[in-house]
Amino acid sequence: MNFELTEEQNLIRDMVRSFAEAEVAPTADERDENELFDRELMFSRLAELGLTGIVFPEEYGGAGADYISYAIAVEELSRVCASTGVTLSAHLSLGSNPIYLFGSEEQKKTFLTPLAQGETMGAFGLTEPSAGSDAGGTKTYGVRDGDDWIINGSKVFITNGGEADTYVIFARTDKDAQKHHGISAFIVEKGTPGFTFGKKEKKMGIRSSPTLELVFENCRIPGFNLLGEEGQGFKVAMKTLDGGRIGIASQALGIAQGALDATRAYVKEREQFNRPLTAFQGVQFQLADMATQVEAARFMVYNAAYRASSGLAYSQESAMAKLFASETAMKVTTQAVQLHGGYGYTREFPVERMMRDAKITEIYEGTSEIQRVVIGAALAR
Ligand code: CAA
Repeated sequence: MNFELTEEQNLIRDMVRSFAEAEVAPTADERDENELFDRELMFSRLAELGLTGIVFPEEYGGAGADYISYAIAVEELSRVCASTGVTLSAHLSLGSNPIYLFGSEEQKKTFLTPLAQGETMGAFGLTEPSAGSDAGGTKTYGVRDGDDWIINGSKVFITNGGEADTYVIFARTDKDAQKHHGISAFIVEKGTPGFTFGKKEKKMGIRSSPTLELVFENCRIPGFNLLGEEGQGFKVAMKTLDGGRIGIASQALGIAQGALDATRAYVKEREQFNRPLTAFQGVQFQLADMATQVEAARFMVYNAAYRASSGLAYSQESAMAKLFASETAMKVTTQAVQLHGGYGYTREFPVERMMRDAKITEIYEGTSEIQRVVIGAALAR
């Protein structure tokens, strides 16, 4: 087992960190405050750096890198701006990867190549008002009409919603089937008649990432856009989420690292009782715990990413990485606010935003409880 990053992975870290610190960090607070998604900065620039298709083969417009490189990219973006991190993760893991995994050659050429090159942005529509953790409870319906499908229903909490051009969505196509059976996946393009955007959520965190409702009213989709086999959509969703959870685990890792870095800098400078805070052993112990948890999270995230690139099973490992990294992000950012004292509770310091951003990592792409369901079911088999 080799714990050293390769030269390529180190180069990607250096490149993304320089970009994130120079271009993304300066506007992170302002975009958060104003709920502003800056497509040029948060997506087009990522495409120029080769990140929007980083793990896909070059023949589909990707960079042909491995999943550890992808995890590092999301981590480094999230270290300064979790909204930018999730933009990449939702685009690549959720909007693009199911087309890579389940698409026909023609679908890959039509949809994946522009996604990987960042000409189009991707998103994923699984969650519904009454089907969140119970993803098999999908009530959006798809009915055949000649070669086409007619979709009716709605999807909520869609990251990149409204901004994305290409959506992978799920609809029940067998009305008699129960639970996870009889669900199919479809590719729906922005601008398709009958496909509109509903309410934009006002959120606690990741406020510069748009989260919208998708509405389908007699939306006609060509038969070509059925993704994978009819009725196999639940497995498309589950396999997509196995990879997506590595993205969110990387986002959580980046948030935790960012909070640790900001806190280290602060406690070295801040003096109380005529000493810097770092002179207090109680403060050192807290920093030690934070750093140890971040390092453990990093190994779990990279291990899941390594397995995803090596053809090994990784469903359980990605769930473990997401569970641990997201709970670490919440603990570390809470501790970071505490160590900043009253200043940490204000918007003068970035740890306040980081703590709000961390919370969502315990919720989306499967709550911490759902990660325990996935891990527990694997252990019980
Ligand atoms: N890979 C392949 N197949 C899988 C699988 C996986 N990882 N997990 C389950 N399956 C298969 C099972 O083998 C089973 O197949 P058979 O019918 O052949 O037996 C089938 O799927 C059903 O499995 P379960 O009985 O385990 O299904 P369930 O209904 O009990 O649900 C669950 C399991 C893990 C709770 C699942 O519903 C789940 O993951 N829920 C959470 C959904 C989620 O994460 N939503 C996030 C939305 S996306 C989002 O948040 C995006 C964003 O904006 C950033």
